[in-house]
Amino acid sequence: MAPPRPPLATAYDAEHFRQLGHQLVDQLADHLARATRREGPVLPWAPPEVHIANFPADFPEEPTGDVPALLARVVEGSHHLHHPHYVGHQVSAPLPLAALCDFVSSFLNNGMAVYDMGPIVTAMEHNVLGWMAGTLGMPKGARGVLTSGGSAGNLTALLAARQAKAGFDAWNGGATAGPPLTVLVPETAHYCLARATRVMGWGSGGVTPVPVDAHYRLRPEALEDALATARRAGRHPIAVVASAGSTATGAFDPLEAVADFCAKHGLWFHVDGAHGASTALSPRYRHRVKGIERADSVVWDAHKMMMMPALITAVLFREGQRSFDAFAQEASYLFTGQDTRSWHDVAMRTLECTKEMMALKLYTCLKVLGTRIFADAVTASFDLARRFAERLETAGDFELAVSPDCNIVCFRHTPEGVPPGELDALQVRLRESLVRGGDFYLVQTMLGGKVWLRTTLINPLTTDEDLETLLESLRRAA
Ligand SMILES: Cc1ncc(COP(=O)(O)O)c(C=O)c1O
Repeated sequence: MAPPRPPLATAYDAEHFRQLGHQLVDQLADHLARATRREGPVLPWAPPEVHIANFPADFPEEPTGDVPALLARVVEGSHHLHHPHYVGHQVSAPLPLAALCDFVSSFLNNGMAVYDMGPIVTAMEHNVLGWMAGTLGMPKGARGVLTSGGSAGNLTALLAARQAKAGFDAWNGGATAGPPLTVLVPETAHYCLARATRVMGWGSGGVTPVPVDAHYRLRPEALEDALATARRAGRHPIAVVASAGSTATGAFDPLEAVADFCAKHGLWFHVDGAHGASTALSPRYRHRVKGIERADSVVWDAHKMMMMPALITAVLFREGQRSFDAFAQEASYLFTGQDTRSWHDVAMRTLECTKEMMALKLYTCLKVLGTRIFADAVTASFDLARRFAERLETAGDFELAVSPDCNIVCFRHTPEGVPPGELDALQVRLRESLVRGGDFYLVQTMLGGKVWLRTTLINPLTTDEDLETLLESLRRAA
């Protein structure tokens, strides 16, 4: 009798891998079919204790071989973003092709820090970033990096802004080697901006808030005041951040006016387009990001409106060389040779040392599926949001927070007979009821001191009928 195969030999066996891979793809394809047929819950909600108990760390010493059984439980119990009733946070229902590329990325594991560790994907990253910068209308020399999410991307951009505008070498001398710094940021900005400035050691004054208007867009006429306030507080302002669009309502700040203000005062102009930079892909809605081409830096998440799996964020610099400023430090063990500023050793310019092959997914989908599918997805989701907003306005028992600039719609249910003082609590209860019941996944936000239901129409399979069903479900739950 042949001796049993050592587990490592089986784990790396090509035929074993082939069989398992086919089985897993079948499992995911079946799941995709069910989710897109709207079968089963969006989120099979359970409290953390249940999952902790169901997935204990009771690891066996020998192989158990029950991969499909384990993964079936993972798929079943997870949040189903491909279900058209997923209308929650700004996280995509990834293109299946992109997910397959993710699998290839994990398999090849080309870690990218230096060119040799990812030659093909480094070239793909270079070219895909050039395409993205061109899509935004940035000048020819614009370039950047891909990094792990909008939060890391905004920090990366602000680090470069600091090297360019602080007037002292904060990278080497530290945050206290010169006057305390600040950036002007709309009140509605994502929290990661205030976090980035704190990471840089600027404390709570590192962000100077700029008021927004009734549409939740930055008020350009308030910028002068904000600048003066920052200076009175002893801060040296180096940049203005504009959102395209903001997290809560998806509002697009007036980018051209902010660009003019930055030009006038010699400030760095950063656009947080984590959610909305993709708008530039849509011929119908591209005008919403007019002025983005004048930014010194832009953050653009492909894992939001470009249907990529998390995380793929582009940080684009108008002057490509600026991307070397974010992490001015050198690691000689990695970056040897004459020219330490070679663009193709990407870790010189990213927070990450090793990073996954992000560009593989985006490049492959653009190359194989073409660009129109991305443009159409943005246009369709914005159109859908507009129709949903109109429906809410005419319904009579719903209130729209603000007409949507993109695919984010905030509203509340206002059934007859509910006193205004109880409406906040009602929205919280309604959301909980729909989410826990698995019917829909939507979120909530605070605007003007009130609680609103918040939807992001980010799944391209969501239809007008689904949103009508959402309203009906809310009425029933109320
Ligand atoms: C405007 C904006 N900026 C930044 C972020 C953070 O992006 P990430 O979740 O990729 O870190 C978000 C996330 O929703 C966002 O909406």
